Amino acid sequence: MHVPVLRKEVLECLNPKANENFIDCTFGLGGHSSDILEKIRPTGKILGIEADNELYQEVKKGVRKGIELVNDSYVNLENIVAQRKFKNVSGVLFDLGLSSWHLEISGRGFTFKKKEPLDMRYSKLNQTTAEKILNYWSKFEIERILREGMSEVAKAEKIAKVIVETRKNMPIKTTTQLLRIIDLLGGSPQLTFQALRIAVNQELENLKKALPQALNVLNSSGRLTVISFHSLEDRIVKNFFRQEAVSGKVEILTKKPVSPSAQEVRNNPRSRSAKLRCCQKL
Ligand SMILES: C[S@@+](CC[C@H](N)C(=O)[O-])C[C@H]1O[C@@H](n2cnc3c(N)ncnc32)[C@H](O)[C@@H]1O
Repeated sequence: MHVPVLRKEVLECLNPKANENFIDCTFGLGGHSSDILEKIRPTGKILGIEADNELYQEVKKGVRKGIELVNDSYVNLENIVAQRKFKNVSGVLFDLGLSSWHLEISGRGFTFKKKEPLDMRYSKLNQTTAEKILNYWSKFEIERILREGMSEVAKAEKIAKVIVETRKNMPIKTTTQLLRIIDLLGGSPQLTFQALRIAVNQELENLKKALPQALNVLNSSGRLTVISFHSLEDRIVKNFFRQEAVSGKVEILTKKPVSPSAQEVRNNPRSRSAKLRCCQKL
């Protein structure tokens, strides 16, 4: 159901070879991991991390030999690796954001195309839901989240204002209620929902904390590959790679971010905003 993005490019960047070990920090439905597994047989191993417990339970049943799957957040990467004694890591992959499973199956309000409760959490351990943000956070905070998620500052301001006015009369509990407000003001449902999801799951903060850990767990000459779908994510990755390159810890292998081909975007529209960056530990 989930079509992995930049499949060929991920393999070119990570360059997996027989008997090497890899970490997939965002396992999802395991598409990229399956591709890597084919290349690292017979003894290579993959440590897969998936934050979503429901998705983890689904995929765990069919997980292939050679893959060790963990239900945790990549923000705990170094701990997970130490606990599992996972050694000799030749590559680490992050394929950020949500999977098609979240949009189509989870029923947690990730999509504006169906009526669902506004949850948007990957992990139930997280106390913040989209509903809490929309009904209890200040106008200032909501505006900040939306401004970061969309380039139109004025629209973010208007949407935040109407959210705060609406909730005085009735709590905002469903995707359709939120969609009505966005539509009324001519905002982008996709960007608004994405901005909320990123805030609910603290995705930018987690990425900042995880990237240095990824470098620490890699072997020297191991490769770190990140696929992002939002300009703020890509900026975090770009700045981190530059800073590590300046201090002589990595060589950047993608001078410019790699984007999907026109054909991939046609076949899988979800890939259109994907940007891949890769560096090698020195
Ligand atoms: C784009 S999907 C990955 C798809 C995967 N590459 C595939 O081919 O099936 C991203 C996945 O990362 C998970 N995720 C998001 N934040 C996470 C985190 N902090 N730690 C671990 N997994 C996370 C999501 O639940 C989602 O399943």
